[in-house]
Amino acid sequence: MPLEIVRNDITKMKVDAVVNAANESLLGGGGVDGAIHYAAGVELLEECRTLGGCKTGKAKITGGYKLPAKYVIHTVGPIYEDGKHGEKALLESCYRESLALAKAHDCETVAFPLISSGVYGYPKDQALKVAIDVISEFLLKNEMMVYIVIFDKAAYKISEKLFSDIAEYIDDNYVHEHTKYLCGSIRMNAPMISYTNFEKTDDLAAKLRQIDESFSQMLLRKIDEKGMTDAECYKKANIDRKLFSKIRSDINYKPSKPTALAFAISLELSLAETEEMLRKAGFALSHSNKFDIIIEYFISRGNYNIFEINEALFAFDQSLLGA
Ligand code: APR
Repeated sequence: MPLEIVRNDITKMKVDAVVNAANESLLGGGGVDGAIHYAAGVELLEECRTLGGCKTGKAKITGGYKLPAKYVIHTVGPIYEDGKHGEKALLESCYRESLALAKAHDCETVAFPLISSGVYGYPKDQALKVAIDVISEFLLKNEMMVYIVIFDKAAYKISEKLFSDIAEYIDDNYVHEHTKYLCGSIRMNAPMISYTNFEKTDDLAAKLRQIDESFSQMLLRKIDEKGMTDAECYKKANIDRKLFSKIRSDINYKPSKPTALAFAISLELSLAETEEMLRKAGFALSHSNKFDIIIEYFISRGNYNIFEINEALFAFDQSLLGA
């Protein structure tokens, strides 16, 4: 899972590089800057003194010293005024410049705080969206494990509208659909041939082939049908290359449910096709858990952005999609 949102203190992260939300002096401050300097020790400040500061939107790298991380990448986020003074472009640049520095120093794992979303006043949900957009764009072309570290979950929120929309959808489906779904699950025991929403294939042989098809075979077939490359599929699914090659090489590979769903999202499958792919991995969408209902919420709205879905799952304390 190349991009994960985690709740932690960034100074505890055992990664190659932690990113510091610094100010232009690079001489320390409060918030995450203060925490990083405190944990790294005085040598960090001594090295920062040699850097001559850093412009907003830019990034500079130092050692990690007493931190578990090998490096600290110091970047200076914009001070948020009203969103009309180029703040977004500068914040995007912080992530891009930091990722480029991490890549140049062969970092395989990097942890970001939500830059500018504290003292600098960038609205947290917008700051998170910028982070996710820039990092996921970078991950489409690069192999790296990137963490977005949320320190105070209370302050963390996705947009109010999305949150209440999903909460309402969970309430509805979780309650009155629960019994209907039970009837539906009786349907699940019906003979496969009448239940499964088969692909529109024009002959019985093809239909029977689809019944016997394993998860891995269906995945590879759908990748071909969608005209995607393997890499496009697993990167869009936020799945790392190693896991994908395991699935590709083992016809009977049984993935976890979040992994199977991540591929369904990446392939932009309909709900029926998603259920079919899940079934081949030995799972079913169940209305008795929030994770599944949130996935269904996004698929039914045609929103297949796995990073937005993970943001929502994180906000509802659910495990995330991907490996
Ligand atoms: N680990 C992870 N995230 C943290 C930690 C921590 N230990 N401490 C704070 N954060 C989070 C905050 O909750 C916020 O969401 O980091 C995010 C960024 O907040 P700030 O640290 O205030 O950084 P920023 O908003 O970019 O302001 C930078 O603040 O500390 C000063 O010297 C810094 O002047 C600079 C300004």
